[in-house]
Amino acid sequence: MKLLIINGPNLNMLGKREPTLYGHDTYNDLTRLITDTCLALKIEVDVYQSNHEGDIVDRIQQAYDDADGIVINPAAYTHTSVAILDALKAVAIPAVEVHLTDISEREEFRHVSYAGMACVKTYKGLGFDGYVEAIKYLYEYLSSGSAN
Ligand code: DQA
Repeated sequence: MKLLIINGPNLNMLGKREPTLYGHDTYNDLTRLITDTCLALKIEVDVYQSNHEGDIVDRIQQAYDDADGIVINPAAYTHTSVAILDALKAVAIPAVEVHLTDISEREEFRHVSYAGMACVKTYKGLGFDGYVEAIKYLYEYLSSGSAN
């Protein structure tokens, strides 16, 4: 099983960026948690981050050939990008959306998630644990063909 983890703009600034919202742990801490979680489950993983919408679309398209499942935190593009939504629909690979914060409890403009419309599940407001839950969910989903 191979998973692709995608993180959108400004998530590379974790640890420095608005720590009261996003915490003090860094992007490197997050990638370590993701790789450790996947290692324990014997999942191959590629952890990708970009600040550029088109690059994220390109990476999703590439996943058609190299991933069984996608975990995506599109960050600000969550609320604006029909292109990322369309890319997820185009490749039709099971995808789980993650947000560190609870976007439904924040500003009105964060309440809409385009990418989420193409995802089988969303974890929000759990911090880094949301990625662990998303990986475990996809593992079950892909192993059994269904999950709850
Ligand atoms: C975020 C929430 C988004 O609204 C915001 O633009 C981000 C991070 C989160 O993980 O909570 O950059 O996706």
